[in-house]
Amino acid sequence: MQAHGLAGASISVRWEHGMKFGYFDDQKREYVITQPDTPLPWINYLGCEAYFGIISNTAGGYSFYRDARLRRLTRYRYNNAPFDLGGRYIYVRDNDAKEFWSPSWQPTRHQLEKYECRHGMGYSIIGSEYKGIEARTRYFVPLGENLEIWQVTLTNHRHHASSLSIFGGVEFCLWDAQDDSTNFQRNFSIGQVEVEDDVIYHKTEYRERRDHFAYFTSSAKPAGFDTQRDKFLGPYRGWDNPAAVERGESGNSIAYGWAPIAYQHIKLNLKAGESQQIVFILGYQENANDQKFDPPNSQTINKKVAKATIAKYLSPANADAAFENLRQYWDSLLNIVQVDTPDEHTNRMVNIWNAYQCMATFNMSRSASFYESGIGRGLGFRDSNQDLLGFVHMVPSRARERILDLAATQLPSGGAYHQYQPLTKRGNNDVGSNFNDDPHWLILGVAAYLKETGDWSILGEPVPYDNQPGSETPLYEHLQRSFQYTLDRLGPHGLPLIGRADWNDCLNLNCFSDTPGQSFQTTTNKEGKVAESIFIAGLFCLAGRELADITVQKACPTHGGTGKCAEAESEAKKYLAEVKKMEDTIRKHGWDGEWFLRAYDDFGNKVGSKECEEGKIFIETQGFCTLAGVGLNDGMAAKALQATKKHLATKHGIVLQQPAYSKYYLHLGEISSYPPGYKENAGIFCHNNPWVIIGETRVGNGDQAFDYYSRINPSAREEISDLHRCEPYVYAQMIAGKDAPTHGEAKNSWLTGTAAWNYFAITQWILGIRTSYEGLQIAPVVPKNWKGFKATRKFRGVTYNIQVERAGAGNAVALTVDGKSVKGDVVPLPTDGRKQVAVKAVLT
Ligand code: BGC
Ligand code: NOJ
Repeated sequence: MQAHGLAGASISVRWEHGMKFGYFDDQKREYVITQPDTPLPWINYLGCEAYFGIISNTAGGYSFYRDARLRRLTRYRYNNAPFDLGGRYIYVRDNDAKEFWSPSWQPTRHQLEKYECRHGMGYSIIGSEYKGIEARTRYFVPLGENLEIWQVTLTNHRHHASSLSIFGGVEFCLWDAQDDSTNFQRNFSIGQVEVEDDVIYHKTEYRERRDHFAYFTSSAKPAGFDTQRDKFLGPYRGWDNPAAVERGESGNSIAYGWAPIAYQHIKLNLKAGESQQIVFILGYQENANDQKFDPPNSQTINKKVAKATIAKYLSPANADAAFENLRQYWDSLLNIVQVDTPDEHTNRMVNIWNAYQCMATFNMSRSASFYESGIGRGLGFRDSNQDLLGFVHMVPSRARERILDLAATQLPSGGAYHQYQPLTKRGNNDVGSNFNDDPHWLILGVAAYLKETGDWSILGEPVPYDNQPGSETPLYEHLQRSFQYTLDRLGPHGLPLIGRADWNDCLNLNCFSDTPGQSFQTTTNKEGKVAESIFIAGLFCLAGRELADITVQKACPTHGGTGKCAEAESEAKKYLAEVKKMEDTIRKHGWDGEWFLRAYDDFGNKVGSKECEEGKIFIETQGFCTLAGVGLNDGMAAKALQATKKHLATKHGIVLQQPAYSKYYLHLGEISSYPPGYKENAGIFCHNNPWVIIGETRVGNGDQAFDYYSRINPSAREEISDLHRCEPYVYAQMIAGKDAPTHGEAKNSWLTGTAAWNYFAITQWILGIRTSYEGLQIAPVVPKNWKGFKATRKFRGVTYNIQVERAGAGNAVALTVDGKSVKGDVVPLPTDGRKQVAVKAVLT
């Protein structure tokens, strides 16, 4: 038992658990895991551009180029026992004692005398010591390259010299991860490699339609190698006991079919106290189609480009320089927003980990983590747009590209494919379409981009529909069609029809699935003319207001506009009139007396009402309507938030609905398929907690907003890692709700809209440093017991040094900019070329 007070929070939660598996090293921006047997694999991402890898604290994981499904480089076995198997493994063998072990603990799982895994920004360092031999490996992907480097440093702490064998390598995936794990009648016959100049090349299917290959090599002259898995492991053996390692001798095997691997064997003699470094490289290379072979009419890979790259990074000095580059890159990204508040968990998440997680969600969407197999899902339309909220300030040019890619998959109706594969950038219906909330997220994504960058030119970019050449319109028209999409699909109460589902993929009101195994996301048995979503209604109000602002702003000559302001104003008025109408409809048909209703089902019955037997109140509408400003002036918002607190809040976060569904409801779909307390059936879905948090800031309740924020802040939950089980440095999609026997247990870490929304909620709404068209707005709604805080924010080329001080208990702001008092709460953009601006905000 360990009491844990949340510093600075208005509540003091007493955790009944109390165990950690590591600690934060904030100086180095690392999380240090001190015990290899974490409750679940605690992972990190390598690469942040095109070449990516997932790496666990025991070196488990895999690599891919751009697309985790279609271009998988190495094999990983999901849902294995032990959980985490397949990785970037290194074995050390003491040649005299004839004993071997894994310095990353897995796969041999020896009792290491020292162990530490440091997950940092784009790199992981796994180090350990066993019987006086220390092995420390730094894994990272250099910027601008399609390869990963493993720098292994071996140190002999014994008093005598040691003869060691180092085996390092990977198992290759035959590129298409789905086919690789299912189509064995073919795949056992197609594997091919080449070995040349101590480099192992993986070239399965290169002889036919692939123009890419992978390679693996090391800086030391190998004593041997293996490329055939069975030869390396030996019959009936696993990765924990490879025959070649046991023997201390490789088989120099060449793979013909079966399972190609790349393992190199290096022999080292280390004197007492001596250290040596070996650099391993795993890389991916594409050749132009007419330059695949060398000589041209042979079947031998043209290795010219690959060889030059390999030569560069096998030099430890070049590898070190590449690492330094990566460090500086992350420093510059993270330094765009830095805060110094009274709460260390806030500081750590904002300054380091939450921003870092936002990069991962931007890159991966929901495709590749230890919970997302890399096979099932590409980049989601809804998800990727929301991810921009936490990413756009870091690399705006990539946000711009993403927006244009997403918009190009939009359908002429304004609707959207639910996802697209990153390699082809084409929309697909694999997880369904007609999710009627989808189009609005594009408006929110574009608004966030415009506020951050002031790059109005994006609205004029010609963008096709469904990637059809000739269908291009300016991006702005895509936003208009997004908005219109809902107006064209209103239901019996004048509320938006829900379609297949809205944000909640599992509230499937037109699905009525009674067949086991049917996908709730692609099955539709109802016409969809009745079921309505109050969530989409709230989203429509927010998107409509954003669109109206964009319309007016874009007309300004300073924004490259026509200057036809009156015309723009009247267009904007139309949007606002529709928003007003929708608000009235919500008031009339979307309000249950104490909270917002959630939906109407296919029979026209209420979902999320006190009249319901189960699922009486849902978080989504309480959060989103209040954050969208619905009901702020008539008390509905305040009431809805009170009801949320009363019925949905737990010490581990706010659950999705109550009471949980105790049985399967044909007319509600997947939501009721989950056991109570898990996932969408009354789990704490961390993605929508920040909507309530923002809602609380909108009614001025900083104590409550921060309290909710702290309950799900992973760093604040570090002390209960044995209960929480997921990584304490990133958000998980879900924490089991109060109806679950494992209440407080997190699941599905890393790839979740939770990252962007919490980042957005804490930076822009609680700390209140908000991007706007006019300048940087400073409107904090922080706990009453905070005396103030400091922040730096780089915004449109200017660094704002912000100091917030509390003089009274309220949220009103008195601004001083470079010593001069300024009206309102927006710091105007400097017009005199100043690059540093001092901002003081006094709360009264
Ligand atoms: C999950 C959702 C997810 C959906 C789409 C469902 O099983 O519970 O969170 O969005 O699948 O893949
Ligand atoms: C996860 C999905 O990625 C997201 O799009 C959805 O909104 C939530 N699940 C809720 O169902």
